[in-house]
Amino acid sequence: MLLKALLTLSLPLFALAQDQRLSFSETELADTLSLNVLNRGSQKYACKCYPGDKCWPAASTWSKLNATIGGNLQVALPPGASCYNSLKDEGGAGGDISTFDSQKCAEVQQNWIDEQWNTDHPISNLWTYYTNGTCSPFPESPSATCTRGYYGTYVVLAKTRQHIKATIDFARKNNIRLVIRNTGHDFMGRSTGYGSLVLNTHSFKDVTWHKKWAGPGAWKGGAVTVGAGIQGRELWRLANKQSPPQALVTGECPTVGFAGGFIQGGGHGPLASLYGLAADQALSFDVVTASGEILPANAVQNPSLFWALKGGGPSTFAAVISVTVKTFPDLPSAAVTLSINSTHTTDVEVYWKGVNAFHALANRYVENGMFVYYELLPLRLHVHPFVGPNMTAAQITEVVKPLFDKLDAEEVPYSSETLEFPTFFDLYTAVFEDESSGNDAITGGRIYTREDMRVNATAVNAAQRLAVENGAFIVGHIVGPGTGAPKVNNAIHPKWRQAASFSITSYTVAGNASLAEKAEAQRIVTNVIGKALREAAPNGAAYVNEGDLEEPNWQTEYWGSNYPRLLRLKKQYDPLGVFYARTTPGTEDWDIIDDGTRLCRKI
Ligand SMILES: Cc1cc2nc3c(=O)[nH]c(=O)nc-3n(C[C@H](O)[C@H](O)[C@H](O)COP(=O)(O)OP(=O)(O)OC[C@H]3O[C@@H](n4cnc5c(N)ncnc54)[C@H](O)[C@@H]3O)c2cc1C
Ligand SMILES: *[C@@H]1O[C@H](CO)[C@@H](O)[C@H](O)[C@H]1NC(C)=O
Ligand SMILES: *[C@@H]1O[C@H](CO)[C@@H](O)[C@H](O)[C@H]1NC(C)=O
Ligand SMILES: *[C@@H]1O[C@H](CO)[C@@H](O)[C@H](O)[C@H]1NC(C)=O
Ligand SMILES: *[C@@H]1O[C@H](CO)[C@@H](O)[C@H](O)[C@H]1NC(C)=O
Ligand SMILES: *[C@@H]1O[C@H](CO)[C@@H](O)[C@H](O)[C@H]1NC(C)=O
Ligand SMILES: *[C@@H]1O[C@H](CO)[C@@H](O)[C@H](O)[C@H]1NC(C)=O
Repeated sequence: MLLKALLTLSLPLFALAQDQRLSFSETELADTLSLNVLNRGSQKYACKCYPGDKCWPAASTWSKLNATIGGNLQVALPPGASCYNSLKDEGGAGGDISTFDSQKCAEVQQNWIDEQWNTDHPISNLWTYYTNGTCSPFPESPSATCTRGYYGTYVVLAKTRQHIKATIDFARKNNIRLVIRNTGHDFMGRSTGYGSLVLNTHSFKDVTWHKKWAGPGAWKGGAVTVGAGIQGRELWRLANKQSPPQALVTGECPTVGFAGGFIQGGGHGPLASLYGLAADQALSFDVVTASGEILPANAVQNPSLFWALKGGGPSTFAAVISVTVKTFPDLPSAAVTLSINSTHTTDVEVYWKGVNAFHALANRYVENGMFVYYELLPLRLHVHPFVGPNMTAAQITEVVKPLFDKLDAEEVPYSSETLEFPTFFDLYTAVFEDESSGNDAITGGRIYTREDMRVNATAVNAAQRLAVENGAFIVGHIVGPGTGAPKVNNAIHPKWRQAASFSITSYTVAGNASLAEKAEAQRIVTNVIGKALREAAPNGAAYVNEGDLEEPNWQTEYWGSNYPRLLRLKKQYDPLGVFYARTTPGTEDWDIIDDGTRLCRKI
């Protein structure tokens, strides 16, 4: 009781205080700059320690880590390894490992495109491009070679916050590349890394509901504390069991994590036009810092860290244990679906007339609180669906009427359906479709602002057509997180507040393609497709969770005017570079050299 009283009394002091100071050892700092120095051309590098290097920890050192984390350290095995006689170890974990297991191999083959199965695997990445296409579960024969490719060498299946702390401390002290892996969803390869120690946070499944938030900040409504490992649909199912059923801003995808990369990168979703991005909902985080300290971060405690965690980049400032976000009573909702494809017309110009009519009205949809998910290919527009939260069928019909009037006037054939649901949860489970894993692609994309759509919709649509005709698959999200939601002070790109539509461009290229083929695919994504999108939407921006690793001026494109403060905070919170994810604050000091393998600081 006394302790509680003291804590309550000390709160105003915290409010005046700055972030708590972290302690980094001078020896560790010096070591990271001198342990493993390499030269490539005229550039000098201080690299992380890799299998085969003198500074790579001995087996006995790994065993000590294992003992401190309750035996939860494993040698990392690519999911396809059980289909091969052995995994080629290449000096990582003490020799080649026999891996063949026909039963396990059959299980992998059966589940290879199942997202949930892959997210539950210790290290599997949903985008095989970022594993170097290694160790396919469909080898010609088990005697073929399975290598780790860009997968890590060891993995910690963390069960407690102490395990997270011990793993971070180990990676820091031993100068090992640390990769935090929650679901393996990352489109941009940030939950894989050659020769790394993988910290898997997927077991953190605790969820606590708060009827009326009484913690830091002004919010007095409902809230929920979500463990790092919780995924979208899993959270929705729990939200729907509350009384009354609750709603919150999650991603559209059922298996994306909530508290990992999603919210740290911003996080858009079907309710974002009504309530803002996921990062706008955050009330408090529990994290482990690069120095191994377990801290809260909220409006009162470590407020600068709190600001940075709200959209400043995945795996950049700390490892997240849990996040508390706002919840809202769930509302009746309506949906409309729309298809224009080769069943309706094979006339390319008629098809694009329809697509353009659909996308040109983006401002109208978001200004009415709507979200639209669509897929765009040559002769295939699949809008599944338009979401009208807090709308009846009659209300959503009214909003989309100008579109259907235009399609009819221009004689564009289509099919469409209008649906009504008692809650958004019912809509979400009935209408959103599952996606598949095991894909090979490079992504890019662009946020179009309301200004871009108002003055240049024709050019934006032409750029999207160019993208599709150059081989991109567009995954579109018409979303306006700044149209109705209150403005929150956080690290997301301020342009998100003006957004009307955000498109991912996904360009297929095999993970085991030659380096020259990969470079050519990347050139098309950045300099043909990306260039057209940037030119047509000069007011726009890019989204760090679903963007191009080679985005020119990525600091400005991903964070705009928030970048300088994020860079200062990165240097304060992680001066050693314990956390790393490409194109996040501070990574301009680093390169991945030797064909995508060694992570090194430029010195
Ligand atoms: C099919 C699909 C659908 C998607 N839908 C949406 C969507 O609707 N809206 C949207 O905004 N985005 C969406 N995304 C993108 C998604 O936001 C990012 O891929 C995000 O990074 C996934 O986070 P994760 O934790 O699930 O994945 P992971 O791949 O496990 O991790 C992604 C990044 O976050 C870091 N990270 C993971 N856990 C932690 C942790 N506990 N602490 C610190 N860092 C951590 C990782 O190191 C990595 O850098 C989608 C992606 C896919 C593949
Ligand atoms: C860690 O310890 C557990 C339990 O003793 C053991 O099963 C596992 O193989 C060990 N991991 C490594 C990498 O040795
Ligand atoms: C990645 O793939 C390329 C081409 O297939 C190969 O040359 C290279 O050795 C691979 N790298 C790793 C780390 O597996
Ligand atoms: C076109 O869309 C309709 C309605 O969604 C669907 O039934 C049909 O299979 C689609 N045709 C093609 C070729 O995809
Ligand atoms: C939902 O609609 C009702 C009636 O139009 C309105 O009063 C209410 O504010 C809306 N709720 C939200 C969250 O927009
Ligand atoms: C790439 O992998 C696929 C199977 O995953 C295989 O069929 C193909 O031959 C491989 N290509 C190269 C160049 O290794
Ligand atoms: C509109 O798009 C065209 C074509 O990309 C571009 O050249 C022009 O600058 C854009 N205009 C505005 C006002 O955004």
